[in-house]
Amino acid sequence: MGIKLHDQTLRDGHQSLLATRLRTEDMLEVAPMMDEVGFFSVEVWGGATFDAAMRYLNEDPWERLLILREKFTKTPLQMLLRAMNLVAYRNFPDDVVYEFVRLSKKDGIDNFRIFDALNDLRNLEVPIKAVKKYGGHAQGALSYTESPVHTVQYYVENFKKLADMGCDSLAIKDMAGIISPTRAREIVEGVKAAGITLPLELHSHCGSGMTEMAYMEALHAGIDILDTSMSPFANGVSQPPTESMVAALQGTQWDTGYDLKLLMRIREKLQVIWNKYSHLHEESLLRPDPGVLEYKIPGGMMSNMLSQLRSMNALDKLPEILKEVPVVWNEFGYPPLVTPMSQIVGSQAVANVIGGERYKIVPKESKDYLKGMYGKPPAPIDEDVLKKVFGPSWKEQIVTVRPADLLEPELDKRREELKKMGLMKKEEDVLTYTIFPEIALRFFKGEIQPEFTSKDLPLKKKAFDVEVEGINYKVRLN
Ligand code: CO
Repeated sequence: MGIKLHDQTLRDGHQSLLATRLRTEDMLEVAPMMDEVGFFSVEVWGGATFDAAMRYLNEDPWERLLILREKFTKTPLQMLLRAMNLVAYRNFPDDVVYEFVRLSKKDGIDNFRIFDALNDLRNLEVPIKAVKKYGGHAQGALSYTESPVHTVQYYVENFKKLADMGCDSLAIKDMAGIISPTRAREIVEGVKAAGITLPLELHSHCGSGMTEMAYMEALHAGIDILDTSMSPFANGVSQPPTESMVAALQGTQWDTGYDLKLLMRIREKLQVIWNKYSHLHEESLLRPDPGVLEYKIPGGMMSNMLSQLRSMNALDKLPEILKEVPVVWNEFGYPPLVTPMSQIVGSQAVANVIGGERYKIVPKESKDYLKGMYGKPPAPIDEDVLKKVFGPSWKEQIVTVRPADLLEPELDKRREELKKMGLMKKEEDVLTYTIFPEIALRFFKGEIQPEFTSKDLPLKKKAFDVEVEGINYKVRLN
């Protein structure tokens, strides 16, 4: 018996608390020891880390993966894959998705956590097939939110579908950290009662301050795997601490069997690494923020709206906008407020208030979403909104097919372009270029200046860009 932990330190931990800036050489300090723990998996790649490694650290994400793979000889490596968006925020055609998965697997990824912001399962079909084709472990994840359509039954039914689609395990992805103990228990119980036998995992963040309680209730209901981060990279907007979870479960039916002494030695090393990055420490990220429960607005989305309002000199409109967000969210069919939906809903709410008339201003991303270009919304979109935005012929403009079906294959064209520029050194470069064309070219040409190297640390505090669940915003520190 016992349960397993999936350690997030080297992906979500530093993405949440260190602005995704942890350098590979610091990861290598702890990798061999972490490999001895016996984790279900360690997440080391994907999400925002792919872009951030290049953009801010001048590191090749593929090389990082190869180097980490050498150090982790026993533990499965996991990545976070944003379904058809891969590690970015737009849909890619199927040929790009297949090739990305093939090379990720070849370079060292074993487990792929695949999720779609809207939980449109059509967007998970190709990534799951690709992972299975190349011999990986496909974990189907559902974005967690609370709305009239996101009921316990909704999660159980969609998990059943994901199991039928060939997933090897399932995960509840609570990116905002809002799941309550009761809801966690009900979903896990529901999945188990439905006869779904695949391992079930809970991924959450400490945002609301309820997360350890939710983990405990999930354990009582039969959860198989929990997501944690080592304590120097835990709590606040990150995961609950790995060591504490191991200690709490010792001697119970959920005992992980992990060596707490070994974990403490890893902790000491990580604490030194954490201290080196002191210029990125942001106190507000290290604390729980139950405010997320009042408006159901994740921290990153709130910061984004605040900076939008500040730039428009309209901070006094905030109370009105906070009332407008749930109205837009309802009219938009309750998309989980994860990137890019959090920005889309937030910007529309701002536009509706500032514009003086609702839906007078409709940003391009809103239009794309309303058209179905991101996938099928969880609930139907309000028809009055569709009429207002697209006019009387709105029905003809709605896309009902899987969005990527509208895309032409892209890989061969990109490969030719890159070869012509003389910039292709390895097959992975085509994907880097396809996914982030602008930044990749600068990277290949050696034009990126890293913000810092390890020997520059510690640095003085200054303003820096933070990405929380995909939202970029400027943080100023004193
Ligand atoms: Co997360």
